[in-house]
Amino acid sequence: MQLEVSEQSEVSGLNNALSNPLVGNSARMRVVRALIARLANSNSTVLITGESGTGKELAARAIHELSPRQDGCFVPVNCGAIPEELLESELFGHVRGAFTGAVNARQGRFQFAHGGTLFLDEIAEMSAKLQVKLLRVLQERQFEPVGSDTSVQVDVRVVAATNRDLWVAVRERKFREDLFYRLNVLPLELPPLRERDSDIALLVGHFLALHARRRGKPTIQVDDGAMGIMEKYSWPGNVREVENLVERLVVLNEEGIVRPTDLPDYVIHNATPQHQTTAQVSLPNEGVDLDGVLEKIENGFIQQALERSRGNKTLAAELLNLNRTTFIERLRKKGMLQSTRPASLPAAVINNVRADGTPLTESRFEQPSPSGLAPAET
Ligand SMILES: Nc1ncnc2c1ncn2[C@@H]1O[C@H](COP(=O)(O)OP(=O)(O)OP(=O)(O)O)[C@@H](O)[C@H]1O
Ligand SMILES: [Mg+2]
Repeated sequence: MQLEVSEQSEVSGLNNALSNPLVGNSARMRVVRALIARLANSNSTVLITGESGTGKELAARAIHELSPRQDGCFVPVNCGAIPEELLESELFGHVRGAFTGAVNARQGRFQFAHGGTLFLDEIAEMSAKLQVKLLRVLQERQFEPVGSDTSVQVDVRVVAATNRDLWVAVRERKFREDLFYRLNVLPLELPPLRERDSDIALLVGHFLALHARRRGKPTIQVDDGAMGIMEKYSWPGNVREVENLVERLVVLNEEGIVRPTDLPDYVIHNATPQHQTTAQVSLPNEGVDLDGVLEKIENGFIQQALERSRGNKTLAAELLNLNRTTFIERLRKKGMLQSTRPASLPAAVINNVRADGTPLTESRFEQPSPSGLAPAET
């Protein structure tokens, strides 16, 4: 299947005006583009929501490029990536001597964005103190740099984004309700890719052409079988995941055609890729004892797997995607072999079922052999 972006995507006037087009011809994407075109002309604050990788930053840039502020700067700030103490001075600047290390006065991003657009990404991560300060800028368009009593006036349009449900954060009192309303003047929701599968082929074609061009390679094609598989896959990482996979295909492909066998197994089986199963945890300010934490998580999972399998090591190993011998060896090293016997399991757990809801067949509990390894189970 030859995918020529110019033929297959809806080459709208809006996309022609953008340095990076918002590809997609699904009804949902057409609505998104129409909304962007409309709200670009306003000066009001925009709140963009959507899962990770759905194109929130791309949409924010599009709003800026289509707005009367297009000749000003587009200044992105990732509120989740900058520690709180630094974020305040990053946003609002500081005067000389405002804090240890502030040897010179420095302008903040609000000032850089004067006449342009400030993109506040991951807004849900902003601390309570900064939320107050941001609320004031949004209301009065003025603020004081850190360590200064003098107000600075700015002409900035704010576009904020989050992949969290901000309304839930408001209900949990983690995000100020008044700030939520101030930001949510013009809401823009980017749909996940699984709700617009008709965009998948277009996106694949777009990224094939883009990455081939960047590498000076001829555009490669995707055969019908491979495209069918990609269209069925759920893309939990949304457009970013499409882009990353296509880039890899472009780099690795020598034949000029992508076939089903070139695709990763998790795509073929519509399963969750390993990297997507990474726990969403954030590093505490004081750091962590990584080995200690990992050990606790591992022990917890092992214990739960044994409980769910009523002590049956074959089933427990399966639940942990481990080979049975490896699992038993790990239990032995941790001194957990004895603790897998039924007497140590609470009654409630004994009645448990497997994670997928299927009832457990009668389990057998075995004594460890002198080598520390249990006799083979079926
Ligand atoms: N509709 C689209 N057309 C073309 N490229 C897209 C589209 N949507 C997203 N992309 C591309 O996918 C990648 C991810 O998009 P972006 O960074 O805007 O996502 P995001 O929603 O901000 O993700 P995160 O929440 O993880 O920050 C970027 O390279 C972007 O250019
Ligand atoms: Mg982003």
